[in-house]
Amino acid sequence: MSTADLPLPAPMRAEILALAAQELHPRGASVAALRLVQARFGWISTAHLREVADLLGMSADDLDGVATYFNLLFRRPVGRHVIMLCDSVSCWIMGREPLCAHLCRKLGIRPGETTADNAITLLPTVCIGHCDHAPAMLVDNTLHGDVTTESLDHLIDTLRDTP
Ligand code: FES
Repeated sequence: MSTADLPLPAPMRAEILALAAQELHPRGASVAALRLVQARFGWISTAHLREVADLLGMSADDLDGVATYFNLLFRRPVGRHVIMLCDSVSCWIMGREPLCAHLCRKLGIRPGETTADNAITLLPTVCIGHCDHAPAMLVDNTLHGDVTTESLDHLIDTLRDTP
């Protein structure tokens, strides 16, 4: 059985209920609750989504609508590290396409895929608000700007060595 099929731990269920109690309506806690699940399991499985929906008094479909709206919430398994390379206009003008091609060659994957060693997932993203340092990307929870092929090479080596 994978961790995605395990019931949510009791302390997490209690934390989600506490978050919901602070809201006018429990659904107000939906993003925070899903982020808790993702922080623990790496992504949000359908089993976990259903549990959270139950706790918040929402339908699973309704909560899935929330989960799939936010591009920082993952509904499919991802690698240990996630690179989100901005594909909006400033980054595109500043050379995002050759950087993406370089990354794909180096990692041996296409955007939306995960490396065979499960180390890195590459995802495109809309503007991440770092346009004055385009091309930009979000790696796990850290912003990177003025990205070059050299800085990418260094980053990939570092990520592969980081659990
Ligand atoms: S356009 Fe890429 S960060 Fe804004």
